[in-house]
Amino acid sequence: MSEVNALKTLRETTLAHLAQSDYEKILKAVEVGGIESLTGTASMIVKSAVLKHRYTMNKAAGNSQPLADALKILLADNVSVYSRAHGYHWNVEGQDFTEYHILFGEIYDDLQDSIDPLGESIRKLGDYSPYRLQDFVTMRTIQDLPVPPNDPISMARDLLVGIDALLAGFNKTAAVATQLNEQGVLNFLVGRVEMLQKWKWQLTASLQADELETNL
Ligand SMILES: [Fe+2]
Repeated sequence: MSEVNALKTLRETTLAHLAQSDYEKILKAVEVGGIESLTGTASMIVKSAVLKHRYTMNKAAGNSQPLADALKILLADNVSVYSRAHGYHWNVEGQDFTEYHILFGEIYDDLQDSIDPLGESIRKLGDYSPYRLQDFVTMRTIQDLPVPPNDPISMARDLLVGIDALLAGFNKTAAVATQLNEQGVLNFLVGRVEMLQKWKWQLTASLQADELETNL
């Protein structure tokens, strides 16, 4: 169910108290910029009612639930790989410290930036986003590899495995978004695939150079 349709449906029930002029203003804003563009207290009440209604309708119809469920797993996996990249940025040691400290820093920064849009995409589909560490630990599908506390090569290998798994997850979820014609989510997912491909390339190139050095 679209946000506009949900708003129209709620007009006679949950939102019957709204003055006609306020309702029309809010309807116009949603038509132009979507539910996320609403600001102000009255609009927040409308936003919450619309999201709740969409969630109930979507759940009943089973519409976008597969996409919301896939996004929840992606969020948990993204948090898991992000957390490792950040820890590797802190703990890496050795003669290639600077190179890896910077690369791991760029990767954790990028993965951190994708946490919020993932959580908000789930809300836009009318579902609730997981946020407790315990939720993420339970839902994630990418497991940690055993890595010594400071070794850059093991850290880079672990991140490469994680990034590869994330790539597969984002691609799979993009296919679900395409099927459901959820263009907004799809655009975000495609952008993530491009960034993850960049990290895959950079990690692979760094590992190739270091493994070559080790074998000399
Ligand atoms: Fe730092």
